[in-house]
Amino acid sequence: MSHEREVKLSESDIIVSKTDPKGRITYANRRFMQIAGYAEPELLGKPHNLIRHKDMPRGVFRFLWHTLQQKEEFFGYVKNATSDGGFYWVFANITPDYKTDSSLAGYFSVRRRPNYAAVKQVNEWYKKMLVIESKETASRAPEASFLWLKEQIKQQGCSYNELLTRLEGLEE
Ligand SMILES: Cc1cc2nc3c(=O)[nH]c(=O)nc-3n(C[C@H](O)[C@H](O)[C@H](O)COP(=O)(O)O)c2cc1C
Repeated sequence: MSHEREVKLSESDIIVSKTDPKGRITYANRRFMQIAGYAEPELLGKPHNLIRHKDMPRGVFRFLWHTLQQKEEFFGYVKNATSDGGFYWVFANITPDYKTDSSLAGYFSVRRRPNYAAVKQVNEWYKKMLVIESKETASRAPEASFLWLKEQIKQQGCSYNELLTRLEGLEE
């Protein structure tokens, strides 16, 4: 929404957080706290959807959790909310984090400045996904919008991760 304040990340910004296996925050670095606008006690133990922005389609998170459950790492563009009603876009990487006995310790996320030309394109796709979700029942919405996104990716003739590489290489 145009009246919301956008925080643009700089090249040197790295936002880090860790969660337990249920997605509750166990660690946040200082830059995370500064950009999201929360003090450490407000974050620790809270579900990571605390910073979820309402413009994010549920299909993206469905894909994120599906990817992590396959023991794979997720890459993607995410619009997050700040505590004062603003927002910031990130290029996120989320990985499962294993203990030495190979049991799941939790998840680890590192986010950095996105290519803002890519954000413009992704924002258009996410808007369409929200429209698709609004026409479905709550339980079908994430799958329906993600199927649509998969179709867009197919039309580009590449995989999801290849598309991200292309997008990150766009001229800003
Ligand atoms: C390590 C990790 C980092 C995450 N980072 C974000 C994030 O920056 N923004 C976000 O909206 N969701 C993030 N999520 C996903 C949330 O846990 C949640 O699935 C999402 O906000 C959607 O909310 P919901 O699952 O309640 O629908 C992250 C999950 C994990 C495991």
